Amino acid sequence: MTTIPIPSHASSAARVFPPEFSWGAATAAYQIEGAAAEDGRTPSIWDTFSHTPGKVVNGDTGDIAVDHYHRFREDVRLMADLGLTAYRFSIAWPRVQPTGRGPAVERGLDFYRALVDELLAHGITPVATVYHWDLPQELEGAGGWPTRETAYRFADYTALAAEALGDRVPTWITLNEPWCSAFLGYAAGAHAPGRTDAAAALRAAHHLNLGHGLAVGALRSALPSAAQVSVSLNLHAVRPLADRPEDIEAARRIDAVGNRIWTSPMFKGRYDEDLLKDTAHLVDWDTLVHDGDLAEISRPLDLLGLNYYAPTVVSSPANGDRLPRDDGHGNGSASPWPGADDVAFHLANDEVTAMGWPIDPTGLSDSLLALHREFGLPLLVTENGAAFEDTVAPDGTVHDPERTAYVRAHLGAVADAIAAGADVRGYFLWSLLDNFEWACGYGKRFGIVHVDYETQVRTPKTSARWYAEVIRRGGLD
Ligand code: FCB
Repeated sequence: MTTIPIPSHASSAARVFPPEFSWGAATAAYQIEGAAAEDGRTPSIWDTFSHTPGKVVNGDTGDIAVDHYHRFREDVRLMADLGLTAYRFSIAWPRVQPTGRGPAVERGLDFYRALVDELLAHGITPVATVYHWDLPQELEGAGGWPTRETAYRFADYTALAAEALGDRVPTWITLNEPWCSAFLGYAAGAHAPGRTDAAAALRAAHHLNLGHGLAVGALRSALPSAAQVSVSLNLHAVRPLADRPEDIEAARRIDAVGNRIWTSPMFKGRYDEDLLKDTAHLVDWDTLVHDGDLAEISRPLDLLGLNYYAPTVVSSPANGDRLPRDDGHGNGSASPWPGADDVAFHLANDEVTAMGWPIDPTGLSDSLLALHREFGLPLLVTENGAAFEDTVAPDGTVHDPERTAYVRAHLGAVADAIAAGADVRGYFLWSLLDNFEWACGYGKRFGIVHVDYETQVRTPKTSARWYAEVIRRGGLD
């Protein structure tokens, strides 16, 4: 077993986290809930995709997942035992509004009401993500995210969720990682709905942005004024392989379609000229973006959520390609980078997790500081964590020192960013529980709590005990 050394550059800063810092963990509905056909829930694009042969490793599906729908009280108890102060979960659209239209299904909302009440009763602050990739299949049938109408449907669903839960959920996240929804889902085909159409993916990106903006409006109307509204972006910490003009150009292109396609409309009210130019052969932006869209998309947010796992190292195609182009999240048959599909990807280093993602916490501190300087918003790390090949010892314990080292190093990077001036308000470890890791199925375990998928028995790993100690101390030692 290899252990990951803690990089010295991530351990120098004072380990001082603000006293009100949120110590959390994150999950997503389709990855943990199961109960796929209960209480009125109908299929989402992930039900359809996972039931399509060849799309998910081992033919795994989220039908049962870790049965959180029935075991949420036990799971909240686990969170309380660990001392979590906050919990980020997602609301399943097909549970709340199964066809993607019309009134809410109260039984679906009741599940989230009960979950939130249980969290509050244990002193854990709920953080709700409205959309973590489970579009109702009916809306995909009507065109999905490449169709403008989906953005309006999303805003209506958001209003239903906020009206039901707004009195007890103080922090709301509109979308999780729209890059994955648009580009893994519609360009690479690695994620649901599995389409490989670069032009459709760019249209999806704009409609996700529009859906976000409309949802912010819906949340502001339904929520008390103290509520906080955010979005979770998997911004790529892009680095050129070498200080060569052609590699720097490759990094610019990936930054445009990976990062600025979200941050510029959301925070600056525009799409950047270079992005429009890079993708002009695929989409007519003048027709796609209607008057008023950018004002809608750039409604002010209270917080910005960053999901970070690894840096992204790129070069010009001539300088080699060591990685498949699927960005590690599954085996897409096409590129997830419209307008930049010839860029070459490299590992930042050879120390990788079970996902093959390189371990480098400096990408986290760099990103937090860059976001702080550019947008000046309070920040949350809404996901960070690692999959490793965990083994259950004969005595039933799961010793996962690599995960502990990973989280320790990345919390160090958060502390570095705070010490350098970034206003980081919380950290949500991905994930509380082992779960359905999308196209990788159940083979990749991200939890700090081990789940035996046969018996559904939960066993906190040693990383969970370590994290509990960090929370108790309010920081690293
Ligand atoms: C992120 C997803 C999350 C999980 C982690 C490992 O991209 O938001 O659901 O799959 O990766």
